[in-house]
Amino acid sequence: MQIRVSTSSNIALVKYWGKSDAAINQPAAGSLSVGLDALRTNTSISTHTGADEISIAGKSDHDSIARVKAFVDHCRRSFRFTEHFLIESRNNFPTAAGLASSASGFAALAIGINRMMGLDLDSVSLSRLARRGSGSAARSVFGGFVEVIPDEDAYATVVSPADHWQLSVVVAITDEGSKQIGSTDAMNRTAKTSPYYQNWLSSHAEDLQAARRAVLDRDFDLLAGISEFNCLKMHAAIMTSRPPVIYWSAATLAVMQKVQALRDEGLPVFFTVDAGPQVKVFTLPEHEGAVAREIQGVHGVLWTIQTNTGGDPVVEVIPS
Ligand code: DP6
Repeated sequence: MQIRVSTSSNIALVKYWGKSDAAINQPAAGSLSVGLDALRTNTSISTHTGADEISIAGKSDHDSIARVKAFVDHCRRSFRFTEHFLIESRNNFPTAAGLASSASGFAALAIGINRMMGLDLDSVSLSRLARRGSGSAARSVFGGFVEVIPDEDAYATVVSPADHWQLSVVVAITDEGSKQIGSTDAMNRTAKTSPYYQNWLSSHAEDLQAARRAVLDRDFDLLAGISEFNCLKMHAAIMTSRPPVIYWSAATLAVMQKVQALRDEGLPVFFTVDAGPQVKVFTLPEHEGAVAREIQGVHGVLWTIQTNTGGDPVVEVIPS
């Protein structure tokens, strides 16, 4: 039997940045994200005699493979099975460029192993399992708008399904290279050294509450304001780490300023940026074409990806 899982990347509108227990990716605060339907990881899993064989297209480096192996070992220990796997995973978007490939990647693995081994995990346990691979993966086991509840063993839950409120996202690719420092290391550095880290955490609950309200009320302006504010606060803390981490390129900033100018002209639009130089520009579906054209015209933008929000996982069982 082979299990094929397709999961989507998610973009946080209120970010996860900082852990209270790094060994288990326990976040220091909650977060709220939405799935990006067209940015997908496709993973196939089957059982295998001998050691695990793992192939991740575009990521042959030792660290990425070791992280997946550690996750699979964790599954074997936790659920007391001995099988090994043949795992093949590929993304339809650039990996390691701040487009959250670890989120969709580990969510796909958790869903696939759950199904392959008949673990029958409920959605809370499945989300917790994915989190052990990567904190943001806790959210990608669901589509739609999703929030992480940071209880003593954090998990994600659906705030509203994707069809509650359809948004469009234009992802501006400004740099295709791998990021200088991964989010795991950068968030630990921020927590240890940024003078703004405690403020980042103490103002988080308020942002989450506003973002949740905005989603439930389909209030675009409220969501725009809170998302940009939260994103810039996160980057302020990241930039003031020692040594500093600056994820933005000149084009990142140019896109952010373009978004502000478009908003001044009356378009419903806002940006968010994760741990990399790409910018995700949100708008309403009827403005997607116009926004995409404007963003493509910004100096330094290499290309764009357009996607709807959504991102429900899809699982296929191929009998042997
Ligand atoms: C900026 O989930 O990649 O995208 O738990 O160490 O794997 P680890 O970190 P990761 O961090 C995501 C950071 C972010 C914000 C977010 O997605 O909430």
